[in-house]
Amino acid sequence: MKKVSWRNLISIADLTNDEIEQIFELADSADQLKSGRAAGGRIMATLFYEPSTRTRLSFESAMQRLGGTVISCSDMKASSTVKGETVADTAKVVSSYADVLVVRHYWDGAVQAMAEHADVPVINAGDGGHEHPTQTLCDLYTLKKEKGGLKGLTVVMCGDLKNGRTIHSLVFALARFEANIVTLAANGMELPQYVLERLEREYGYSLAPVASGDLSAVVTETDALYLTPKQPHQLALFTEVDSAIQNRLSSMVSGLRYDAFYMTRKQKERMKDGTTGGSYPTIGAGFLREERFKNTVVMHPLPRVDELSPEVDKDRRGIYFKQAAYGVPIRMALLKFLFDQRASGIVAAKKSRSRYESPERLGPQCANPNCVTLTEPSSARKRFDLLFTGVGGALILRCVYCDHRFKVQLVGHVKSKRYCAYDAALADTIKAWLKKNELAIFNSIKEAEELAYEPYKSGPQRTVMDEIEIQSAVQEMSRQIVRDCNDLDRLLILGIRTKGSLLAQRIGAELERQQKRKPEVGEIEIYGSGEELRRIPPGDPEASPINLKDRTIILVDDVIYTGRTVKSALTIIFRSGRPQSVRLAVLVDRGHREVPVKPNYVGKSIPSSERERVRVKLREAEYDEKDKVVIYSLISPVEGLEGKPR
Ligand code: CP
Repeated sequence: MKKVSWRNLISIADLTNDEIEQIFELADSADQLKSGRAAGGRIMATLFYEPSTRTRLSFESAMQRLGGTVISCSDMKASSTVKGETVADTAKVVSSYADVLVVRHYWDGAVQAMAEHADVPVINAGDGGHEHPTQTLCDLYTLKKEKGGLKGLTVVMCGDLKNGRTIHSLVFALARFEANIVTLAANGMELPQYVLERLEREYGYSLAPVASGDLSAVVTETDALYLTPKQPHQLALFTEVDSAIQNRLSSMVSGLRYDAFYMTRKQKERMKDGTTGGSYPTIGAGFLREERFKNTVVMHPLPRVDELSPEVDKDRRGIYFKQAAYGVPIRMALLKFLFDQRASGIVAAKKSRSRYESPERLGPQCANPNCVTLTEPSSARKRFDLLFTGVGGALILRCVYCDHRFKVQLVGHVKSKRYCAYDAALADTIKAWLKKNELAIFNSIKEAEELAYEPYKSGPQRTVMDEIEIQSAVQEMSRQIVRDCNDLDRLLILGIRTKGSLLAQRIGAELERQQKRKPEVGEIEIYGSGEELRRIPPGDPEASPINLKDRTIILVDDVIYTGRTVKSALTIIFRSGRPQSVRLAVLVDRGHREVPVKPNYVGKSIPSSERERVRVKLREAEYDEKDKVVIYSLISPVEGLEGKPR
């Protein structure tokens, strides 16, 4: 990783409260900045992969007012991006033409990835649904100007809180300045869990519902939540409360004084089908007539669609055009601040954190499908912060690029090639392994086994299926597949790599023996970072991809237990095409399920508990072994480890 001697602004967390105040002071003296030509001789490059009016033009205006110049790609669709140039390469190249890059991108974390490859400061002008820190600077500045300060204000965040990047940056900033936050989300567009968790963990915020009817002027059905740093409610975050608690809490937070409504539009561009049901909060004449909102200002990052009536424009409380106009002095101030920091060689204070990057070929990947680590893995290494502070002692991975968080289930030790379920009692051991780069983290047991890891400690193995039973199970499943399949020409046998894929090949060979024609066989790679679907045997690299349209797919795996692996495979299948049907064939059904999937063809049902493992051994994958299925018990990982790495 390159050594950076300048400041970037990717997240609002990159600025301290003092620095934000410093930027506000600079914005107050924008006229002096203009005459001082603080950016004289400097060039700013704007790279906007998504449309913008305010952010782009106010940045360009700010740079020119500071005496600098601007270069730009008027339309990124007319840039080499369409030829397949990565964000990493674009950042590297353009940073040799300019002194600062201002970037907007549709992928979460793309601007962070670009900053890692650029040789000049990079400013995030909005990355996917993640953050929009310079909008937050405008918002805070506007609020401060209107209300005289930020501490203790109560701000209602309305609308699409799930996809609105301006919302995510702003709630963290408001929390840092000790404001109260009321969330009034449209149906299904609540603040994401990772944002709520961070508000609770880093800022000690707790949540309570707002009194029913309190916000009826903006939405018919009130589902508002009140987030406060003062912690008057002893209940921490909750998702469901019984009616007695609800009543008590409701009375505690009724009659709030609302200082500002921050309205947002529905971010249709971030929704798969562009629509969600239910009512969307709106601000209009009803709001203006309410006595209790007489001192409540209305803000909006703009553009608006129909959630904010033009009637509010004429009212003194509608301050959103002022908020947009502050974009120029604020961005002048920010540019001046970053240029000064670079000139004096000031770098951001290093935060103490436990960074994790898998030492293995496979490893955890971000759960956010719009994260740059998934959309363009060549531009961003899969890196995470390890947080040992999850609820109930859980170990949490935080994606460095998009901030999404998820719980670690399985950990392994690289040298001993052993794995076990994570338990809070292992925290110190895990920290020691992390320090020595010997910590492996897995998404599933299947992934651990792909890398030849064994359970930390296990009891004796008992054979539950032998070679002959496995062979007859494959034959019987193949017979059933033929019976159910109307058109063998459409049949595609897809195995989940590795054991499912070996079984798929055996089923394919059996079908060929029975029917005298060879069905197409392929495999699905669930945990790899390359091709997800490929033919077996792999043939001409120039051959067209496997066509799934209107096919009858038989998905094959060795064992089904929770159903999560099959679910991942189905996601890949439906992302890759529209088959006519998908049926599931498994050699072993262990009988427990987290995900409701039912196999159509089962070699043998072997009901087994969480403390047991069923392992399919196939001669193609095991050295010097015959086919067999074994079952054994796991010994408690803590007992197995005895608190020490082996
Ligand atoms: N508020 C905002 O980001 O506006 P633009 O999308 O027009 O830049």
